[in-house]
Amino acid sequence: MADHRIVDGVVGSAPVGDARAPAPPPGGVAPAAGAGDAGWALAVRAARPDDIPALTALYNHYVRTSEATFDLDEWSEAQRAEWFSHYGTAGPHRLLVAEAPDGGLLGYASSSPFRPRAGYRTSVEVSVYVDPGGQGRGVGRALYRELFDLLDGQPLHRAYAGVALPNPASLALHHGFGFRGIGTFTEVGSKFGRYIDVAWLELDLERRRSGRGGPVPDPSG
Ligand SMILES: CC(C)(COP(=O)(O)OP(=O)(O)OC[C@H]1O[C@@H](n2cnc3c(N)ncnc32)[C@H](O)[C@@H]1OP(=O)(O)O)[C@@H](O)C(=O)NCCC(=O)NCCS
Repeated sequence: MADHRIVDGVVGSAPVGDARAPAPPPGGVAPAAGAGDAGWALAVRAARPDDIPALTALYNHYVRTSEATFDLDEWSEAQRAEWFSHYGTAGPHRLLVAEAPDGGLLGYASSSPFRPRAGYRTSVEVSVYVDPGGQGRGVGRALYRELFDLLDGQPLHRAYAGVALPNPASLALHHGFGFRGIGTFTEVGSKFGRYIDVAWLELDLERRRSGRGGPVPDPSG
């Protein structure tokens, strides 16, 4: 199990993008201060190589204990480092972490290619994992808020999420960001000795972007 826990009782939370947040590093993401629920603070920032051990521990917790991932075997840190190398601090494929004031990892969110073929380049698949000790306290929402704000600036058209059922927290999180259900693959996977359904959800990124006054990307770009 991941050994990071939310630090309670930190005051002075501020909205994401608050002027008190430091300027972004070159090509990077400004830490978003105070994005959690009232009464405590967290920072959302681009993942760094030194996050790999904590990212591995958090993911492996869910590999061992949950149908949220269909991985059956834990990942080594070396395997996770290769996975990490597919994300950047620019472009549509991002890896963000939520960090407690003590530096502990609270969770992460990613946007990845939906499919490898080039015609899918305007779609991403998103994913989010929150430390088991910090669920239900706004960490997932803070990560997605920052991730989708970044994706607003990218030439993307659709985002997708596959949610192994049942997972009411994940469904609530995705619906809260405007995802709509587009269908369920029944018994498409199996883990812990049973077949598992996966609901697919879709977000119209251009609709989200235009609702915020942003530009609509050229699909030929
Ligand atoms: C799913 C997950 C990412 C949500 O993150 P979180 O930090 O726990 O959720 P938040 O506190 O940000 O809440 C997000 C929304 O989910 C709702 N929610 C949270 N926990 C819930 C629960 N157990 N049941 C129902 N709804 C729940 C919240 O009310 C909130 O909805 P709102 O925005 O309408 O108020 C997190 O619980 C997690 O990591 N779960 C295990 C791994 C996983 O399932 N990942 C997703 C794979 S698709």
